[in-house]
Amino acid sequence: MRPTPLAVAQATVAAGADCLVVANTWLGMAIDPKKRRPVFANTFAGLSGPAIRPLAVRLTYQVAQVVDVPIVGCGGIASASDALEFIMAGATAVQIGTMTFTEPGTMLAVIEGLRAFCEREGVTALTDLVGVANIRPIPEGAA
Ligand SMILES: Cc1cc2nc3c(=O)[nH]c(=O)nc-3n(C[C@H](O)[C@H](O)[C@H](O)COP(=O)(O)O)c2cc1C
Repeated sequence: MRPTPLAVAQATVAAGADCLVVANTWLGMAIDPKKRRPVFANTFAGLSGPAIRPLAVRLTYQVAQVVDVPIVGCGGIASASDALEFIMAGATAVQIGTMTFTEPGTMLAVIEGLRAFCEREGVTALTDLVGVANIRPIPEGAA
């Protein structure tokens, strides 16, 4: 049986990790109907970008409940609001991958958006927002 992502996170920290990146891509697949064959040479390929964000936010939320090291959240971040989801789920920092290809200005826009949000909301340190939405224990069976 494969270990759950939460078990992997805990084992990684127990083995000495100083921080964790949550998450990465999710395996996907595409089939070319005309060729009747998988599109990718490896059959499966990593799906990234906005489609995976809810999955990655959920995992960040869950991992933050079981480890005590900083988490770098990533998966589909395209805006400051997206970054705030990860931060409020428990991430101390965020990473932006796919959107850098499609919209190279994303990182700067996110940084500026976070600054504007903090000003608007009277937040003096972004770290005050880390994990603020992480209020419930993991629902049973969800790991
Ligand atoms: C073109 C590309 C190359 C990637 N290469 C790596 C890699 O070498 N190692 C790794 O751990 N993750 C790799 N990733 C995954 C990203 O680091 C990131 O975890 C994932 O894409 C989700 O974030 P995003 O939706 O912001 O791209 C790669 C992603 C993309 C799109």
